[in-house]
Amino acid sequence: MKHFASILLLIIVFEVTAQKQMLIPPTLSGEDVELVLQPGTYEFFDGISTATLGANGDVLGPTIVLDKNQDVNITVENKIGETTTIHWHGMHVSAANDGGPHTTIKAGEIWNPRFTVLDNAATYWYHPHLHMKTNDHVLQGLAGLIIVRDEAEAALDLPRDYGVDDIPVVIQTKAFDSNKQIVLGKSALDTEVLANATRRAFYEVPAQVVRLRLLNGSSERLYNIGFTGNMPFYQIASDGGLLQSPVQLTRLWLSPGERAEILIDLSDQEGQNINLKSYASELPTGYYGAAQVGMNAMMTIPNYNSNPLNGSDFNILELRVAEPLATGVRSILRSLVNDTPYNVNDVDRTRSIDFMAQSMGPTFAVNGPFVFDGRSFDLDYINQTIPLNNTEIWTLTNHSMIAHPFHIHDVQFYILSRNGAPVAQNERGRKDVVIVPPRGGTVTFITKFEDFADDEIPYMYHCHMLTHEDEGMMGQFLVVGTTTAVNDDLVESVRIYPNPSSGMVQLRGVAQNIVKLYSTNGQLLELRRPTGEVEVFDLSTYAEGMYYFEVTNAQYSRTYKLVKN
Ligand code: C2O
Ligand code: CU
Ligand code: CU
Repeated sequence: MKHFASILLLIIVFEVTAQKQMLIPPTLSGEDVELVLQPGTYEFFDGISTATLGANGDVLGPTIVLDKNQDVNITVENKIGETTTIHWHGMHVSAANDGGPHTTIKAGEIWNPRFTVLDNAATYWYHPHLHMKTNDHVLQGLAGLIIVRDEAEAALDLPRDYGVDDIPVVIQTKAFDSNKQIVLGKSALDTEVLANATRRAFYEVPAQVVRLRLLNGSSERLYNIGFTGNMPFYQIASDGGLLQSPVQLTRLWLSPGERAEILIDLSDQEGQNINLKSYASELPTGYYGAAQVGMNAMMTIPNYNSNPLNGSDFNILELRVAEPLATGVRSILRSLVNDTPYNVNDVDRTRSIDFMAQSMGPTFAVNGPFVFDGRSFDLDYINQTIPLNNTEIWTLTNHSMIAHPFHIHDVQFYILSRNGAPVAQNERGRKDVVIVPPRGGTVTFITKFEDFADDEIPYMYHCHMLTHEDEGMMGQFLVVGTTTAVNDDLVESVRIYPNPSSGMVQLRGVAQNIVKLYSTNGQLLELRRPTGEVEVFDLSTYAEGMYYFEVTNAQYSRTYKLVKN
């Protein structure tokens, strides 16, 4: 018994001392930025070398620090031995500079995007975006932060000493095999929690106001961020900019691709250790990371139920609070910046995107492949064509059991509602990723497509669960110059007979369109992608009343009323 107790003690001591100081990626700034994508090795586990990919190093990439309005000339040299791309997530750049799946960098080649930084001060990131390979390349270590600074931010009394009181935290989970090599592809056994590629990370911070730049760089997992003892923190920035004022929180959901800048006031905490955690036990069913994803324990993702992280609270980073700096920030500001959302009165058109399992049945699936509007991603198919300077409202509806973080390139958007209700204050700022709730959940947002048009190179929109993106939960849109004719002939010629109808209804002129049938309360009843000129719907089993056919092609969308009698 005594022996057993001392072994147990040894194990406990080992666990405690096995903590490691969190890696802080170096910074790069100036007009010329050079990234070399390369293979490497990294000790995630003491004494064991794991094969990785990194930019300018073994794992992750340098933090690129840019000023708004500066010009930047980036060279990305691909030495990883296979094709990849690098995308500037969240940044407003031309399609040619965006680094999406069309802008491939072959092994041994150099890509040279140049652009003017138009973004507001916030935390962005870069990562590979090769179709069907995004998850593997990110999992192996390719990802880095981009910090944009601007005058409005510079005028505020905020911590901004990188790695001292302004701390980058890239949160990821990975699965490792028995040789401690990274498991590629889809694995629900992502049991290792990493902060800047560091397991069991700690970091020393001064006893004053500290800024954390959080990025969820994980393949699938959502974090319910909080601190030990429910210590309050203040969100100051969302994906693409500072908020109007700091929002006090004790919990913050961070889904894959999302960033949040937060302040914590550690003035009274000198000598204390405080854990940044994910309180995943509090996540509701249907969010990746919760105890359950499906309606019951049987309806799940392969291996999900054997991952101890799911549904339990775990540490991400231990903050060890040391003495304050002479120049530290001592209090939390009252207000930040003025940022006016787009106006709903300026909307040129609306679009609806429906998330579903590719099979369309069972409608409420937890396992994919998931797709948008019944169509898997196709590099040669343009899903949406958007006239330059359009202001649009998009409605996202999730017909699956699992929540999906939706991301769109080129723009920042403002969330108008989630499940019909306004969102909390911290989600009212500039966003490029939004979590869409499961089981019929909806999100609407407003955005504007400005500055960059290209008739050939599309931008992407996709689920930021990288496994879903790779499996086809992605679409692409062209932003076309206002002089490029947008062709609405297809939708113009749609005819519906008979109307009213008690059973069979014919839609003519709908070839190559998407046809969605909705009930009066907006529920999607059917989705079809007709290839022939005539599409027949059988409404005989539907209740009497009013129904809506929404006919959409890449350019136009029109809704037709139908009476069932
Ligand atoms: Cu973070 Cu299209 O990506
Ligand atoms: Cu992006
Ligand atoms: Cu998804």
